[in-house]
Amino acid sequence: MKIGMLTSGGDCQGLNAALRGVAKTLMNELGDKAELWGIRDGYRGLIEDDCHQMKPSEFSDILTVGGTILGTSRQPFKMMLKADEDSEQTKLDKMLATIKKEEFDCLVILGGNGTHKTANLLSENGVNVVTLPKTIDNDLWGTELTFGFQSAVDIATTVIDAIHSTAFSHSRVFIVEVMGHKAGWLTLYAGISSGADVIVIPEIPYSPEKIAEAINRREKSGKRFSILAVAEGAISQAEAKMSKKEFKAARENMPYPSISYRMADELQALTGHEIRVTIPGHYQRGGAPCPADRLLTSRFGVAAAELIRDGKFGNMVALQNGVIVPVPLSKVAGKLKTVPPDSDIVKAARSLGLSMGD
Ligand code: F6P
Repeated sequence: MKIGMLTSGGDCQGLNAALRGVAKTLMNELGDKAELWGIRDGYRGLIEDDCHQMKPSEFSDILTVGGTILGTSRQPFKMMLKADEDSEQTKLDKMLATIKKEEFDCLVILGGNGTHKTANLLSENGVNVVTLPKTIDNDLWGTELTFGFQSAVDIATTVIDAIHSTAFSHSRVFIVEVMGHKAGWLTLYAGISSGADVIVIPEIPYSPEKIAEAINRREKSGKRFSILAVAEGAISQAEAKMSKKEFKAARENMPYPSISYRMADELQALTGHEIRVTIPGHYQRGGAPCPADRLLTSRFGVAAAELIRDGKFGNMVALQNGVIVPVPLSKVAGKLKTVPPDSDIVKAARSLGLSMGD
């Protein structure tokens, strides 16, 4: 059985651990019958037929290694059905041609939202596909957790923890900008875990006045500082009322490198405080996976290999109610799992006295 493996989209912690989990299980279950091939840089390698047979030793000593040994790239789903610049063929045609030429019996695809749309397209076109859910954003529908998320929560929490001492020493207001354009899971989890005072997520549009009130309230009660955990995709209540077109135009003309800097100016004007911004950025995706992600990727890897062994293709492995289950790709593709504004965890944050910025 010739199995092609690829990692696609933004990297995260645990990609290598997941590849290892799939490979080790396949080698144990199928022995020499499993021929493992690595496809370089995600779908690019499939489009350009850039793949190589992998040795069992390549899957050793990678449990704790960050990034992906296969490389990755972003290949937007919307480009998959468009004719390529250099030929009449679409990227999908080229991928199908590679799969035929290389005689892959199935593909193992590790990725997030965009990756799953393309994985589903391949599956609809007759390719045997099994996928694993990765992203620090935790925004894939059908699974309670994606791998990478818990490691990123650890890092973002550590950053906000460390900011506390400087905020206290200087009596300052800090904004820590956390990754997540569309979903606020990472900001919410890290914000609560680190004891942030205000949490702003894309799902709950913010009011600068309400955040200023929260800061002033803390000051009046004798607190020396305030820390805001703000998702990079945060939007104001005024922006939430705009059409998509108006919003795009407003953001294109925004004279700030990111939302946190604009918020800092808004809050400085309202509170009189000097506000500092810290952006950990891609640091949140780097380094070794935390133990919880090592465990999750290993479990996902085993489950993916078992689906291949049993010929149950067209599925993503997912965590539901603490158990690893297959979820059809057709159900996952194109669906985002965002934070329900009335979820228990948001309610818990509010009960703890945190402001959600609204
Ligand atoms: O999807 C993961 C993610 O890290 C998001 O949180 C972030 O908005 C985006 O990727 C950054 O993408 P890039 O690596 O292309 O800058």
